Amino acid sequence: MTMNRRTLTSAMAAAAVAGLLPASVLAQKKLVLGFAQVGAESEWRTANTESIKSAAKDAGIELKFSDAQQKQENQIKAIRSYIAQKVDVIAFSPVVESGWDTVLREAKAAKIPVVLTDRAVNSKDDTLYVTFMGSDFVEEGRKAGRWLVEKMKDQKGDVNIVELQGTVGSAPAIDRKKGFEEIIKADPKFKIIRSQTGDFTRAKGKEVMEAFLKAEGKKINVLFAHNDDMAIGAIQAIEEAGLKPAKDITIISIDGVKGAFEAMIAGKLNVTVECSPLLGPQLMNAVKDIKAGKTLPKRIVTEEGIFPMEVAAKEFPSRKY
Ligand code: AHR
Repeated sequence: MTMNRRTLTSAMAAAAVAGLLPASVLAQKKLVLGFAQVGAESEWRTANTESIKSAAKDAGIELKFSDAQQKQENQIKAIRSYIAQKVDVIAFSPVVESGWDTVLREAKAAKIPVVLTDRAVNSKDDTLYVTFMGSDFVEEGRKAGRWLVEKMKDQKGDVNIVELQGTVGSAPAIDRKKGFEEIIKADPKFKIIRSQTGDFTRAKGKEVMEAFLKAEGKKINVLFAHNDDMAIGAIQAIEEAGLKPAKDITIISIDGVKGAFEAMIAGKLNVTVECSPLLGPQLMNAVKDIKAGKTLPKRIVTEEGIFPMEVAAKEFPSRKY
């Protein structure tokens, strides 16, 4: 008789029931990971979702995936449903930093390990999660600030900056602002004259930049956008206002998505600080390690670079997201 995958699995199940299979074979049960994603707000997030889905497939891990549409209550609901389904590991990228302790305690009580990916929580109890893997957002803000300080070192008068912040209360918005300000405060000529959230989306980035331009017009020298999508939206607003992006207004953003490289090659964006969304393979390794009883470091930081427009054309072909 020829055995296909299904008959083989049924035969194994029958053998297992009869107690004929060794523990090592039975232990090969597929691990189940519940992942509560923030949403699909940016090119970065889409790449992050793809990375997680494809890495789960490659690792043979069953993935239960939910999209919270940038709402914390949806993420909490998803996490509770993973607890009810008794998944092996829960991972999520918290949309905002605070308000997670209750649901994380529920996961802990159910003995389900939790991994934070991409964004941190600001809980005082770090036993509520196993590890946090992702970028150092404060350092990303510093890199953006250092690039600007160097670029404007010979500028004598004020440098008027407008800032497009990410989602209010999110780790990347809080930390990138902090890192950027930490660097530019060394020289009082750098002035943030407007700062508002664009929620990490192109549409909001454009809308808020239009308002900045209406209020400040040609006074604006620099735009610091907390992600590429908002910068790309803002570039449209700048062009519609009859100004030249990257020339009349210096533009700095964060992520390093392909869209940003295209904008740099077109001469419309000055620089992007890298923030890698390709966390899938690392996450799947962590899931396996946790289930194998290994101890993981509490913090796993992603290594990243910075790409000014001068190198964009050369780097573009090797970009993975
Ligand atoms: O948390 C990472 C941030 O979230 C990225 O910079 C942004 O593009 C995304 O939406």
